[in-house]
Amino acid sequence: MNEACAPPLADALRVAAHAWARLRAGTSLDRALEAARQATAAGPHPRLAAAAQDIAYTATRHLALIDAAIARLAARPPDAAVGALAAVALGQLVAQRHADYAVVDQAVAAAKADASTRAAAGFINALLRRWLRERDACLPELLRADEVRFNAPRWWLERVRAAHPQRADAVLDLQRRPPPLTLRVNRRRTTVAAYLDRLAQDGIAAEQVGAAAVRLRTPRPVDAIPGFAQGDVSVQDAGAQLAAQFLGARDGMRVLDACAAPGGKTAQLAELADIELDAVEIDRARAARIESNLARTAAHAHARIRVIVGDAAQPQSYAPAGGYDRILLDAPCTASGIVRRHPDIPWLRRPDDVAQLATLQSRLLEALWPVLSRAGRLLYVVCSVFPEEGERQARQFAACRADARAVPLTAGAEPFLQLLPDEVAQPWRGGTPTVHDGFFFALFEKT
Ligand SMILES: C[S@@+](CC[C@H](N)C(=O)[O-])C[C@H]1O[C@@H](n2cnc3c(N)ncnc32)[C@H](O)[C@@H]1O
Repeated sequence: MNEACAPPLADALRVAAHAWARLRAGTSLDRALEAARQATAAGPHPRLAAAAQDIAYTATRHLALIDAAIARLAARPPDAAVGALAAVALGQLVAQRHADYAVVDQAVAAAKADASTRAAAGFINALLRRWLRERDACLPELLRADEVRFNAPRWWLERVRAAHPQRADAVLDLQRRPPPLTLRVNRRRTTVAAYLDRLAQDGIAAEQVGAAAVRLRTPRPVDAIPGFAQGDVSVQDAGAQLAAQFLGARDGMRVLDACAAPGGKTAQLAELADIELDAVEIDRARAARIESNLARTAAHAHARIRVIVGDAAQPQSYAPAGGYDRILLDAPCTASGIVRRHPDIPWLRRPDDVAQLATLQSRLLEALWPVLSRAGRLLYVVCSVFPEEGERQARQFAACRADARAVPLTAGAEPFLQLLPDEVAQPWRGGTPTVHDGFFFALFEKT
């Protein structure tokens, strides 16, 4: 962020600290940030929300390290509000986003500005200064703990390792880092080559990483992405872009997007073919985001789209008489494949969630299969790397359904595709994207 137009760091630290306290009480980081912005009323600076978000996300990417550092540096655990401010300030020191003195000075100013932390301004000052004095010795020692090195609870690390023994450490290491910003080029409006030219003319470094996927070398806000407001491009991971491609909807087909919000794949489906599309979403607030995505990409010009707020597992309430030719089930899951976008996930999930979500996914699969027409295809997708939600789920479904044939998604022998998060250095030359998050895909045809 340009320092000249950045909000005071103390204000951003305060908002981020309020969000951190909510996160540690079990609220997702995005919801926590929204609530914190309202609660702190920290001033009307236009970039305050973005600055606080950056600080809170940075701290969350170092959550285990921050916890370990505070446990080491403080004589006794600080209360929640003080600990939160110390945590987000430590996150800035660890990530070296600003000069050390500026972080300490602004953290103390933030402490003094808030009644819940005022009395602890001296404590915060002392704790941060002690970190600066001791970090060279302290850091390598703290990083020896696996939870700190990979920033995830032990049970989470064990599950990833059990599922992917060969690739686990590479996956976990990648998931600690900030995510790439990948765009989907709207083929109704432009081509990848033309869009890359346009970026080059604007001096924006980018490369093609998938069939319609362009990765920007340096992330930027959506209002600074050429053509975003006009719907020429949308923000979507290159792995996520495979779903609509695998589904293979063609002109005139009736298509169901069963768990649709925020509508990234709904809009993409309308970009690929002239279809009749039902987008079902159980969460009313999230469903509103589908409409704004569709409006921005002018999706209604090509598809007859109904956005339906409801339970996808009750298709009798929304499915047309003849059923659907294509069903996309992008099911709710642990989101263990997109941790670099949502670093709070491993800290919010509980071990039991995996089995509970697997049950929900299976319920959705069972409920949707009857409304798939003969010779129709259903694509099951989760953004997870856990086999309980992916391969095991798909195998179990196929085993119980005599009328389901798994359609191979790649040239190899495997019927399903588990993509682990990756960033390949070589240029994209067709096929699987080179830069992507973690997803599981299974395509079933009704025989
Ligand atoms: C993985 S997200 C979908 C992402 C979306 N397909 C996209 O590409 O933008 C899963 C969505 O399913 C919704 N959901 C969960 N249970 C549902 C249900 N029973 N019926 C419909 N939607 C559901 C969640 O609210 C969430 O928005």
